[in-house]
Amino acid sequence: MKNYKIAVLAGDGIGPEITAEAIKVLKVIEERNDVSFELMPALFGACAYFATGDAFPQATIDICDQADAILKGTIGLNHEESKKIPVDKQPERGALLPLRRRYNTYANFRPVFLPRSLAHFSPLKPEVIGDGIDLIMVRELVGGLYFGQKEAGVNEQGLRYVRETLEYDEEQIRRIMHQAFKLAQKRRKLLHNIHKSNVLKSSVLWNEVMEEVAKEYPDVQVVNYLVDSAATALCLKPTQFDVMVMENMFGDILSDQGGGILGSLGLMPSACIGPDKAYYEPSHGSAPDIAGKNIANPYSMIGSVAMMLENSFGMEAEAKNVWAAMQGVFADGYSTADLSKPGSGVTMISTVEFGDKVVAKLREMPKV
Ligand code: IPM
Ligand code: MG
Repeated sequence: MKNYKIAVLAGDGIGPEITAEAIKVLKVIEERNDVSFELMPALFGACAYFATGDAFPQATIDICDQADAILKGTIGLNHEESKKIPVDKQPERGALLPLRRRYNTYANFRPVFLPRSLAHFSPLKPEVIGDGIDLIMVRELVGGLYFGQKEAGVNEQGLRYVRETLEYDEEQIRRIMHQAFKLAQKRRKLLHNIHKSNVLKSSVLWNEVMEEVAKEYPDVQVVNYLVDSAATALCLKPTQFDVMVMENMFGDILSDQGGGILGSLGLMPSACIGPDKAYYEPSHGSAPDIAGKNIANPYSMIGSVAMMLENSFGMEAEAKNVWAAMQGVFADGYSTADLSKPGSGVTMISTVEFGDKVVAKLREMPKV
């Protein structure tokens, strides 16, 4: 029997609720397969800060170091609550970025998926959804503005100023390009390269390296898109996209837009992959306004489990079953509050009910 250690960082806000549903799914995967998961819960985010004074405490680092994979919920507080924590210890800067840096998880995969049958979830018209949206954003996750040098002070004119650096070296660009091209080869052999080379020198280098790497993948067609026009195109004709590759900040923004065109950020799972370790997380925040109400959508968290099964444990068939189980719940006409507004025709269920239905579907699926 295979045994995998999973660090479980439930986090803040809706994190613990959606993580509980993801764990139910992991238990069913254990029942159905010759595999066991050793779950190692650890404090991470604002909850860790208030308990220990550190958003990513040493005890959590030790657990993550030992783990075969890390499953992370959501972190962060609302704007006002955040102010109770010193800026550099706030969960995003104090926990999430250090986690990404520690494991060098440079490749972030964010699927944006909506079958034609669920077009009613989307704010876009059915004719725009066409045969469905099925694209993956590949976001560089440990470079650019997020990790560049920062400086703030008062300048010679006595004005407060801030300076943040957008830095990439060619190797950082090359490795994410290889990931994107490889993924494109497995899919429609179409890669949209997202950049801003009409203004940013970083994009000029980005594109140069992209063209060098492209020579190794002659079967992949590259389409170049400026990031601003890509934002429009995602609304007007999302079906043209298959794999999109972009730097860190562009990826942060466009991937939330990805959730927007689907109808909910709750439909956005992700995988963050480094050379030796990967972690999995919803692309969205901790939604403190709805925390503890049993109404959050656990899809992005359960989808992150599916991505973990596939990428970290080689359980591709079971990953597919998890996706299918969730799609099955939607197909039966159920969803959580985000996607079941009055008049939508969708029956509203709670976070826990969604998880239970997914688990029931999964149990019905033929074993692999
Ligand atoms: C994301 C999130 C994070 C980011 C925040 C929480 C720091 O928005 O994963 O997209 O900006 O990367
Ligand atoms: Mg984001």
